[in-house]
Amino acid sequence: MLKVKPVAPERLPELLRRMPKAELHMHIEGSLEPELMFALARRNGLTLPYADVEALRSAYVFDDLQSFLDIYHAGTRVLRTEQDFYDMAHAYLVRAAADKVLHAEIFFDTQTHTSHGVAADVAVRGLHRACVDARAEFGISTGLILCFLRHLSEREALECLEQVLPQRELLLGVGLASSEVGHPPEKFARVFARARALGLRLVAHAGEEGPPAYIWSALDVLKVERIDHGVQAVQDAALMARLAHDRIPLTVCPLSNLKLRVFPTLNAHNLWRLMDAGIVATINSDDPAYFGGYINQNFIQTFAALGLNAQHAWQLASNSFEASFIDPAPKRQYAEQLQAFFETFV
Ligand code: HPA
Ligand code: ZN
Repeated sequence: MLKVKPVAPERLPELLRRMPKAELHMHIEGSLEPELMFALARRNGLTLPYADVEALRSAYVFDDLQSFLDIYHAGTRVLRTEQDFYDMAHAYLVRAAADKVLHAEIFFDTQTHTSHGVAADVAVRGLHRACVDARAEFGISTGLILCFLRHLSEREALECLEQVLPQRELLLGVGLASSEVGHPPEKFARVFARARALGLRLVAHAGEEGPPAYIWSALDVLKVERIDHGVQAVQDAALMARLAHDRIPLTVCPLSNLKLRVFPTLNAHNLWRLMDAGIVATINSDDPAYFGGYINQNFIQTFAALGLNAQHAWQLASNSFEASFIDPAPKRQYAEQLQAFFETFV
């Protein structure tokens, strides 16, 4: 562990903005800003059920995960062509690079698009091309993680996996997203086993709204390497010990938890409890266009609400690289870059 020099509270936002970091939990369809949504609708000859950007943005008030998913799903209807996926991902990667994200593992879900008549390979190609270009433009490294929609059946998830097999080499891993409660991880045991046999990396949303039991089964049945959200783990001491001991990372998304009312206020967020328990927690933006901020806003607002300091900043950034699926050599380079940043920040 690096012992970090104290930083005055008024300088923390600058430290957080400039600090190198990885983002590991971001749904690319949730980065579609209202301006781009209107532009894509126009380009594709579609009409949105909102008068303008302001009217659309003002609809972004949610009671829970499901109320968000309904609006999120409606927004994806403007995505029709490979170029649409490219433009959406490029816009996110420009923002991420500006936030000093050196590495991003990006979620996408083809089942949403195939249900609108857009083939899975159209999405994969557009996203991949944006990732290749962003590497050249900004030096950012990326990976694509295909999320299965858990409100649909396992048979549909298996079909979804089959559809992307021709592009297997463009994928880093698979995940599990959408409505959690009532759709436990074990429902997807076979499709995760198949993905594992294909050499794909495994993650799953668990313990966002669902109980600790869903985190246990994500680990023990699906054999995931990382848990997305996982904040409900604090209800189960044995699970907390397991996560810490096995260094299973949690990709926490504070502004998402606030907007979807997982916590009533940001001050009530349990990130500090996860960190105090020695869990490899990270900060991420989830669906930044809908939840009021990209990764740096998540850092800045969470640090202000919870009174976190420069030592926590180093820990969270260090965790983000540790928790990533980057190869060992570049992972070491990122860790060194992070250490050099903290040693020279004045
Ligand atoms: N949870 C589950 N599914 C999602 C989310 C989320 O926060 N964002 C996009 N799909
Ligand atoms: Zn998510």
